[in-house]
Amino acid sequence: MTPFDAPSVHAGQAVYTRSFLRAYNAFVYGFNSPLAWRCPKDRLVGLYDRHVSARHLDVGVGTGLLLDLCRFPSPDPSVTLMDLNSNSLAAAASRLRRYAPRTHLADVLRPWQLPCDGVDSVGMVHLLHCLPGTLADKAVVFEHARAVLRPGGTLFGATIPGQGVRHNWLARAQLTAANRRGIMCNRQDRLEDLDAALGRIFESHEVTVVGSVALFRARVGPGVRGPGMR
Ligand SMILES: C[S@@+](CC[C@H](N)C(=O)[O-])C[C@H]1O[C@@H](n2cnc3c(N)ncnc32)[C@H](O)[C@@H]1O
Repeated sequence: MTPFDAPSVHAGQAVYTRSFLRAYNAFVYGFNSPLAWRCPKDRLVGLYDRHVSARHLDVGVGTGLLLDLCRFPSPDPSVTLMDLNSNSLAAAASRLRRYAPRTHLADVLRPWQLPCDGVDSVGMVHLLHCLPGTLADKAVVFEHARAVLRPGGTLFGATIPGQGVRHNWLARAQLTAANRRGIMCNRQDRLEDLDAALGRIFESHEVTVVGSVALFRARVGPGVRGPGMR
């Protein structure tokens, strides 16, 4: 079985039922982010504020809270939401209905086949640690992101590597429980592999560690057109 076989991919999104999504913001952003991951919500909203564009794609959307709180550079942005779980898509689309977002039900590990002409930013927060395999395997999603980014476009996001950052006791306990249940798969994710994959695929990139979390951004060079645009 390869890391991308269906059961392990399914496990990374199966927990996002409608009832879990109702508790998600309180659990993740009220408890885990400040106390276990030591990367409060405001740091992630700041990441969005710096990099979100007026033509944005978000992948692995959860409830859409960060997109709801961030400041777009335009009052009328074009927003596309992509997720493998229809409950997440429905929750985020409802929260963000003022932007009339498009939704795209798809697995990020497979070619994205987006119904649009490309985007200027892709947001990918807390998705990579849900995907099966090592960070070297998961880097295929960076290639898919690059393929839909227009010249000068930016990929940004955050993930919790299993190795290369300091985890406190609460983080270690949460990681053990989540990896055991298949909700997270990040024991083998190494910070250095994240850095190397972004450096291989993009013209420029930056990785910053806040608590247990690696924040990243990577940019396509100006004049470089991705192959996934129609
Ligand atoms: C931890 S939540 C992150 C939500 C949001 N970005 C945030 O930061 O709050 C992970 C999201 O990724 C989605 N997901 C997990 N595996 C996926 C896959 N293979 N393809 C697309 N989406 C996936 C889940 O359904 C869920 O909505």
